Amino acid sequence: MRPLPSGRRKTRGISLGLFALCLAAACCLQSQGVSLYIPQATINATVKEDILLSVEYSCHGVPTIEWTYSSNWGTQKIVEWKPGTQANISQSHKDRVCTFDNGSIQLFSVGVRDSGYYVITVTERLGSSQFGTIVLHVSESTTEEIELEDVEC
Ligand SMILES: *[C@@H]1O[C@H](CO)[C@@H](O)[C@H](O)[C@H]1NC(C)=O
Ligand SMILES: *[C@@H]1O[C@H](CO)[C@@H](O)[C@H](O)[C@H]1NC(C)=O
Ligand SMILES: *[C@@H]1O[C@H](CO)[C@@H](O)[C@H](O)[C@H]1NC(C)=O
Repeated sequence: MRPLPSGRRKTRGISLGLFALCLAAACCLQSQGVSLYIPQATINATVKEDILLSVEYSCHGVPTIEWTYSSNWGTQKIVEWKPGTQANISQSHKDRVCTFDNGSIQLFSVGVRDSGYYVITVTERLGSSQFGTIVLHVSESTTEEIELEDVEC
């Protein structure tokens, strides 16, 4: 008695699943854009830490990913790559950055000067793109921060 109803339920489950899948596929094809997910938009760190600027994207095909760094002193490119190929890392960040296929980058042994805005741009082959920002605060230990403020006064 038991196998039959459970078998039926399974079939219905599968066809429902297929239906949901088709619906999802149809939605994806329609939206044709890049989506970008940034779990943590502000990161507080102390010097010498290794920092993961964590993101995840979804889009059609293999995109181009670019990270730039902005601070009061201006904007510079950090790295550009297509997931699966070698990254083109700028001279300023050579040996200090590694890239991940999901678009994230890791900064090794950050310094106070690395504080600022990190902007990621994910660009699809067809041209649409999406950008996102992570703010990084790098500080010395708390006591040193207070000392610095005293010196400035
Ligand atoms: C980072 O530090 C600032 C104060 O300097 C605080 O307001 C903020 O909540 C902190 N953010 C995180 C993610 O710890
Ligand atoms: C991206 O990949 C890195 C390395 O595998 C991982 O640590 C990180 O959590 C991923 N980011 C997201 C948002 O999934
Ligand atoms: C790497 O980046 C530099 C500076 O943006 C550029 O001049 C060079 O052509 C790039 N190289 C490759 C292989 O993309």
